[in-house]
Amino acid sequence: MTPAEAQQRIAALRTELGRHDELYHRRAQPEISDFEYDRLKQELATLEGAWPQFASADSPTQRVGDDRVQGFKEVAHRQRMMSLDNTYSETELRAFHARLARLLEAEDFAYTVEPKIDGLAVSLTYEDGKFVRAVTRGRGDRGDDVTANMRAVPSLPLELARQGKRVMPKVVEIRGEIFMTQAEFERLNAERAAAGEELYANPRNTAAGTIKLLDAAEVSRRRLEIVLYSLGHCEPQVVQSQSELHDQLKAWKLPVVEKIWHVRGIDAAWAAIGELDALRRGFAYGTDGAVVKLDRFEDQRTAGATEKAPRWAIAYKYKADTARTRLKAITIQVGKTGVLSPVAELEPVFLSLSTISRATLHNEEEIRRKDIRVGDLLEIERAGEVIPAVLRSFPEERPRGAKEFDLHAAVGGKCPVCGGKIARLEVAAEGGQGVAWKCQNYDCPAQRTGRLVFFCSRRALAIDGVGDIVAAKLVELDLVKDPPDLYDVPLETLATLNLGTAEEPRVFGEKNATKVVAAREAARALPLEKWLYGLSIPDVGETTARELGRRHRNLPEVASSTLLRAVLEKARLAEQRELEAPASRKNPAKTDEEKARRKELCARLDAEIAALDAGVLAGVPADLGPAVAASVIDFFAGKPGERLLAKLGKLGIDPAGTVVEAGVFTGKTFVLTGTLPTLKREEAEQKILAAGGKVSGSVSKKTSYVLAGEEAGSKLEKAQALGVPVIDEAEFRRMVDG
Ligand code: IVH
Repeated sequence: MTPAEAQQRIAALRTELGRHDELYHRRAQPEISDFEYDRLKQELATLEGAWPQFASADSPTQRVGDDRVQGFKEVAHRQRMMSLDNTYSETELRAFHARLARLLEAEDFAYTVEPKIDGLAVSLTYEDGKFVRAVTRGRGDRGDDVTANMRAVPSLPLELARQGKRVMPKVVEIRGEIFMTQAEFERLNAERAAAGEELYANPRNTAAGTIKLLDAAEVSRRRLEIVLYSLGHCEPQVVQSQSELHDQLKAWKLPVVEKIWHVRGIDAAWAAIGELDALRRGFAYGTDGAVVKLDRFEDQRTAGATEKAPRWAIAYKYKADTARTRLKAITIQVGKTGVLSPVAELEPVFLSLSTISRATLHNEEEIRRKDIRVGDLLEIERAGEVIPAVLRSFPEERPRGAKEFDLHAAVGGKCPVCGGKIARLEVAAEGGQGVAWKCQNYDCPAQRTGRLVFFCSRRALAIDGVGDIVAAKLVELDLVKDPPDLYDVPLETLATLNLGTAEEPRVFGEKNATKVVAAREAARALPLEKWLYGLSIPDVGETTARELGRRHRNLPEVASSTLLRAVLEKARLAEQRELEAPASRKNPAKTDEEKARRKELCARLDAEIAALDAGVLAGVPADLGPAVAASVIDFFAGKPGERLLAKLGKLGIDPAGTVVEAGVFTGKTFVLTGTLPTLKREEAEQKILAAGGKVSGSVSKKTSYVLAGEEAGSKLEKAQALGVPVIDEAEFRRMVDG
């Protein structure tokens, strides 16, 4: 691997892991299994070790996954909440022990072995025995205050039980894990299925999503539980070891793990890990490993910690449960963008608490890479998704005559849903470029259904109740072509919708229909950015939708956006600039005369670009680039966009952008650096934008203010060097709030 290749792979892994961190910690919607995630992280750590010049304090290997979301107050932990190093191998576990043995100059020191609970970490503070606060792990040093939601957890004692004369700490941080039982998870999902809502993937994500709800009443309707296992700040210190802590927690009448093993030496710890594996499926919470900790706090102090994780503990992770079964057939699903994706239809098999009969195969590339053929025996695993993933096939047990899968042939060269044309399309796939097939018919029922489901999803217009089944029915009956048609479906029609069959009818019902009607009415008032996102405009994700929503007053203004045209114009000028550069590699200037002429032309082009940047495009982030601009312009210029605008007009739906006319920061540009004491970065940015200001990533002479917090780095130095005023949060608040 060359340094350039290593650097590129490191960057790709960081982006990829960053995305999965966001999905797991903030959205509670992981797309890959923990095992896959750990594998990517391990690859990154190995590369960073081999190429120290590309190491970075900001790498996912160096920080804990951040769970903070908007809407909660941030609170600092008295003692940092750390993550744990983990391993899947006995050899590495023994290496962990060997390191400690050297450090402690002993062999048979005491360990505890306890279950690793698959939930969401939280820190509870008790003052004089009274529960005062619950904070998520967040970024490790500070997290989200979820006290109100925590009070809705019935198993949480609001007071620590007193034991005679024993000292009650003045302040103690007790750490543990919030979880949901399998039974409660299934109850919730059954309820959601009946109401036609999206199903939750697994108990862990549901628990994580629930504790971050902004509605404590809803939290109490779902039964969350908690289990405690670890100590943060404690004053005065009342226990001296992990096993004493476990007993103390029990004495305080706090819920604790079912069993902890108190052992000496690594062989005994390894035996305990095996025992735990045999017991853990009977526990109320999901477990994905064993945590081995040095028992004595004094030993823990000797071993110390890195920024991210203690050296005195390690998580040994059990391999996820897998099962083997036959692949009966490969069917093809059509998504909202028309992409054809293969699905494995399996001989039903029992795996991790339920029966599985389908698995995702992602794309043709993956089928080829894993050498999967119809008739094969497959090994499957539950990943982060509702649908499990296929790990591998067993070619040696393949029935004779099993053929390689050819997606194009399997669908007879046309869309399996609408029979329309399909086209090849290059897509990013693991291990390089792959091809996908895409249905070209915008009005394909599968695409219509997909767009309607998306339109109604939580992050878009939050019209709860319209999931896959309801949407497919509305499309099938031709009641909905484009998502806004949902507004024309009368309440009675919704209420009597038959989601079952003629023989076994299952009506949607009055109650569910009324909820949908209320939600669709409420959605009328949602801001432009939600509508832009919900309308499935190609290339418009949440971030782009937000940017566009802040810069346009309404939908028609987006459709004929001067800003987007300016983005394209700038790209055109930049391209020309590159071509005209006298030293252009493709097209070098030949004579001095030509050189001079082109130099002048370039200066003119630079000036035009600068004028755009300072004018229409001021503050527009780079990711709002020409590809996105072209996509949006084309969409509204085409039939689908025209049709949508007309329909929304007729419905009187006119979502408003969050454009700021003029405010205290109009004409001012801010650069943010470091961690602010109470404001999150996005919150500070929002305040600036709301007051008419702009936010930029780098300091220049044009910067009006640098808003600096703790651990501000080079930007602060640059501001000081350039004489740009530096303000802190207090000053900033005075400016905003007057
Ligand atoms: S001790 C300083 N013990 O796993 C060490 N953590 O992957 C703090 N976890 O952030 C952690 N069960 O949320 C510890 N028995 C257990 C645990 C446990 C689950 C979580 C915890 C931690 C994460 C690290």
